[in-house]
Amino acid sequence: MTEAMLRTLGAGATATAYAALCLAVYARQRRLRSAAIREAAALSAESDAAPTLVLFASQTGQAETIAWQTARQLRAAGTPVRVMELNALDAATLGSASRALFVASTYGEGDAPDGASVFAERVMGSPLALSSLRYAVLALGDRQYKNFCGFGRALDAWLQASGASPNFECLEVDNSDPAALAAWQARWGDTAAIGHEDPDGAFAPWRLARRELLNAGSAGAPVFLLSLVPHAGAMPRWASGDLVQIAVASDPARPRDYSIASLPTDGELQLLVRQEQHPDGTLGTASGLLTSTLTIGDTVALRLRPHRAFRLEGNETRPLILIGNGTGLAGLRAHLRARAAAGCHDNWLVFGERQAAYDFLCRGEIEAWQASGVLQRLDMVFSRDQPERLYVQHRLLQSADTLRAWLDKGAAIYVCGSRQGMASGVDAALKQVAGSTLWQDLVATGRYCRDVY
Ligand SMILES: Cc1cc2nc3c(=O)[nH]c(=O)nc-3n(C[C@H](O)[C@H](O)[C@H](O)COP(=O)(O)OP(=O)(O)OC[C@H]3O[C@@H](n4cnc5c(N)ncnc54)[C@H](O)[C@@H]3O)c2cc1C
Ligand SMILES: Cc1cc2nc3c(=O)[nH]c(=O)nc-3n(C[C@H](O)[C@H](O)[C@H](O)COP(=O)(O)O)c2cc1C
Repeated sequence: MTEAMLRTLGAGATATAYAALCLAVYARQRRLRSAAIREAAALSAESDAAPTLVLFASQTGQAETIAWQTARQLRAAGTPVRVMELNALDAATLGSASRALFVASTYGEGDAPDGASVFAERVMGSPLALSSLRYAVLALGDRQYKNFCGFGRALDAWLQASGASPNFECLEVDNSDPAALAAWQARWGDTAAIGHEDPDGAFAPWRLARRELLNAGSAGAPVFLLSLVPHAGAMPRWASGDLVQIAVASDPARPRDYSIASLPTDGELQLLVRQEQHPDGTLGTASGLLTSTLTIGDTVALRLRPHRAFRLEGNETRPLILIGNGTGLAGLRAHLRARAAAGCHDNWLVFGERQAAYDFLCRGEIEAWQASGVLQRLDMVFSRDQPERLYVQHRLLQSADTLRAWLDKGAAIYVCGSRQGMASGVDAALKQVAGSTLWQDLVATGRYCRDVY
């Protein structure tokens, strides 16, 4: 989205811009279409009874969305397909396939996203015998990170080492670059099958209704609770665990993600936003806009992003262990509100911040959940309230017996907040307490869900 388009959106005149965008996309798709149909016909002729595997390695859902779009295109072109998350794929299934398309994102130090971590550990340790497999890799990444497309590249290298033949060179996508995505789509047939829809929905203006500083006096950066409502129209639906993206005029290529801290039934979309500061003292582009530049009543361009891997779906009847720090309380709070509304009280919150006196975010609500029994167990871990630094992962290790007992009764784990330090420490603690086999099982069966950044 261009800066000019953002201004148009802010002014509310979205229809013209959207029509222009649709026309541009349509024109591009028409150009790609005839070549696509030729390739799809070849693919369809080559494919035998075994379906083409469309495999995704995803954290926040982009790779998954693209995998499903690709599958829809292939089906429309007459190719039988089977879509799977990489963690659900075993060596035997891959070994018996004749064609596989991989859509893979990268996290951390060029690591696999959570949806592929078990596959990376269990299957990619050594080469397989895949000489009858033809494959293609679409690697999603961002050049701002050191290990650009690290996992997609590792996957490609491993497939080649296993004797599989690439259909074409690993296609790398920088920051959702539309040209690279169009090049991928153009390979797989009728692009009309994916429609013109944006998988995450369109940006629309939302109005800032309230903003409250939650940690006055904190040694850390200010954290605000923001309440937003649609500028026009009804409150859209979302599920606890979902994200929003905020578009910023000065950096239109890079919308920022925020975890939603409320439910549609609250009548407001709430966010917990930490005000970032650059080393030169200027505020973070998006967090500065949200926590300082905007005044009450102003609008911001926002869109909802379903975050299926972090929803409660599939775990509704399980006990929940909710672990997080800082603004990570946002995603956990939405889940706890959903659990309270559903009357599910087997919830354990392990939350970390700096000092109880200043950083006990949403204290009233958390204490009320404890008093009413919505929280069966609460561990607030304040790192600076004692001489030694204590973090949530230390509390988990101290509570290893309880953690094991909750896992034995089928609990699911939701982690939200800092990737480095918190989520990595929690992951190590969990592996230590549960053991590697149960850890892999938790990831593979969707009982270990993360929204970490
Ligand atoms: C899935 C997900 C969920 C998230 N949920 C939340 C949430 O619930 N709450 C929340 O607060 N955040 C959340 N985030 C983080 C959020 O998306 C933003 O990354 C964060 O708010 C910072 O964005 P910004 O535009 O304010 O900072 P930016 O301007 O992008 O700056 C970020 C950092 O980049 C560096 N930098 C950028 N520009 C410069 C410069 N000119 N000079 C020097 N250094 C620079 C600095 O280190 C700076 O601190 C989430 C992220 C993800 C991926
Ligand atoms: C916290 C974080 C870490 C990331 N690390 C990398 C990285 O090391 N290398 C890279 O190329 N991209 C990195 N990315 C970019 C993602 O791979 C990219 O946004 C991708 O489109 C996400 O797809 P997904 O939603 O399917 O997970 C990172 C993104 C985030 C939010």
